[in-house]
Amino acid sequence: MSLPITREQAIELLKSMPQEQSDMNHYLETEAIMKALAKHFSEDQEYWAMIGLLHDVDWSLTKNNWAEHTVKAEQILKEKGFDDEFIQIVQSHGYGYDEIPGFKDKQRTKKIEYALIASETLTGIIYAYALIRGRKISDMEVKGLKKRFKEKSFATNCNRELIKEIEKTGLELSEFFQIAIDAVKEIAEQIGLV
Ligand SMILES: [Fe+2]
Repeated sequence: MSLPITREQAIELLKSMPQEQSDMNHYLETEAIMKALAKHFSEDQEYWAMIGLLHDVDWSLTKNNWAEHTVKAEQILKEKGFDDEFIQIVQSHGYGYDEIPGFKDKQRTKKIEYALIASETLTGIIYAYALIRGRKISDMEVKGLKKRFKEKSFATNCNRELIKEIEKTGLELSEFFQIAIDAVKEIAEQIGLV
């Protein structure tokens, strides 16, 4: 699948809006996990990575107005030449939220959509877990991450049910955690982890 802009241009686009470092980290982590999942599934790695990188392209503009989150993305991505399918996949991570009226009753159906919602939600637990380990991810193990996943009081804003959507791709949770940890390890330095 062809993409209208390069990764560098996508990063430029994100940086052209006011971004928190923590948000940039989240985009890069989601990109890394999506790319690794594409590799695992023998899907288009560049495409999946771009979906991960740009899934929150409107976040800096909508974080105080959730009703617009993932909705505003359409216009931004269209202007850059992305097609309807790409935009729809990005928007699918807003499905099911009461706060986004137009997407409240929509449901994810594609493998890439399940992968996106699971990946972008898991980044929160991985990062929070790395922080309590002194920013260390180099020796993070699935077992420990699984414990944090089961601990309801840990990283409470990360909805476990959304992470479990990965199972709809046929991937088991443990395997997903391993792929995700390995992927984030690769970019540790860029996101302030070791
Ligand atoms: Fe996100």
